Amino acid sequence: MGNGWIGRRVAIIDGCRTPFLKAGTAFKQMTAIDMGIAAVRELIARTELDPAEVDEVVYGTVVHSVLAPNIAREVQLGAGIPARAPAYTVSRACASANQAITSAADSIARGYADVVIAGGAESLTDVPLLVSRPLRDRLVAASRAKTMGQRVKAFAGMKPKELVPTTPAIAEPSTGETMGESAERMAKENGITREAQDRWALRSHRLAAEGTADGRLTREIVPMYIPPTYEEVVDRDNGIRTDTSLEKLATLPPVFDRRYGTVTAGNSSPLTDGASAVLLMSEEKAKALGYEPLGYIRSYAFAALSPSAQLLQGPAYAAPIALDRAGVTMKDIELWEIHEAFAAQVLSNFQALDSNEFARRELGRSAKVGLIDEDRINVMGGSIAIGHPFGATGGRLTVTLLNEMKRRGLGLGLITVCAAGAMGFAMVLERA
Ligand SMILES: CC(C)(COP(=O)(O)OP(=O)(O)OC[C@H]1O[C@@H](n2cnc3c(N)ncnc32)[C@H](O)[C@@H]1OP(=O)(O)O)[C@@H](O)C(=O)NCCC(=O)NCCS
Repeated sequence: MGNGWIGRRVAIIDGCRTPFLKAGTAFKQMTAIDMGIAAVRELIARTELDPAEVDEVVYGTVVHSVLAPNIAREVQLGAGIPARAPAYTVSRACASANQAITSAADSIARGYADVVIAGGAESLTDVPLLVSRPLRDRLVAASRAKTMGQRVKAFAGMKPKELVPTTPAIAEPSTGETMGESAERMAKENGITREAQDRWALRSHRLAAEGTADGRLTREIVPMYIPPTYEEVVDRDNGIRTDTSLEKLATLPPVFDRRYGTVTAGNSSPLTDGASAVLLMSEEKAKALGYEPLGYIRSYAFAALSPSAQLLQGPAYAAPIALDRAGVTMKDIELWEIHEAFAAQVLSNFQALDSNEFARRELGRSAKVGLIDEDRINVMGGSIAIGHPFGATGGRLTVTLLNEMKRRGLGLGLITVCAAGAMGFAMVLERA
């Protein structure tokens, strides 16, 4: 397997994203497609790419628009990429943009494409509201009615509760448990204290605030003109708090287990709107077009466990596989971007990776996978502070990691993501 990658080497040229804004704030009039178009257009402009070079667009989203389910195609056409390039949408919960990137990489590795734009977008403001099933049956019957009498009959005996809409829940269809409840359960089972969670959350905000102030985070962000007037410009994430403290975090009430819980609005990632875009090429094509890639994909892995087990523990299962495929160990990793769904999840993932018992019982390995120093993990904060538009986060992690590896002159980095359905993702990236 050599260095672990099968097929042509895949380069990541560059990437960018919109600001990540709390749901219901400045992007509330925009759709995921609008945000995706903005991110992809900016990527093309920044890289001075001829859109005619793009062979394919792969885009991730989680809460799909019922009206435009193939968001990739709409983003492509809206961003001015010629129609002859095909585009498809992928969905793997919070790892959807990672799935888009790996699907793009696989087509490049096989030689089916040379230049692919990947990424993802999510609007958690613009979520589809569904009518109840009984009301839907009545509306369908009414639309098929041939007479006024039949139409009226379709609504006979309708109960008020049929009018209550159904909203998409952040819950497992198989168990009914929400993500927050799972995080709460993991905190209890793994003994992750409220204080430890709040400390991680505070760290996320402090480092994200530093990364914003010194421009490392904002240089990846597309400044956005906000509809309807297009007079206001937003060029940074709006969930990062410079005013938070351990004392303030300690006052917040638990949300998912109000009586005995430890997971709060402060130590969870917020519901967020945003989009990301990443340009991938075969190594040869990058050379031919004169690009200096940000880095290369060395390996990746997806793994999964039962949703009734520790739902957000996926990274602890995926990371060792990706590291093995790359032919390296955790000790070789110089920088790590871990998606922060909840502080309880991050700290549970660390605990599992650092446990010999977990390695033997769950991974069938003789020794633990291990950890790296905390000061090499999420060095500009993470999703708790920056926000988490489900379909877009994977693009942010990839680009932020590679840009920081470049600034620090590092060779090897790791990305991990937990995802609904009890899945985990890990990718090893290299600079040279
Ligand atoms: C946790 C959650 C329910 C909180 O939602 P919310 O109540 O709308 O959150 P808010 O931002 O309004 O925060 C609630 C309060 O906490 C305060 N707060 C939040 N973070 C804070 C911080 N770091 N420091 C101080 N105060 C904070 C807010 O100011 C707000 O106070 P207020 O009520 O006085 O205005 C929501 O963010 C959520 O569902 N997150 C999880 C999403 C998820 O499951 N994602 C999938 C994981 S991959």
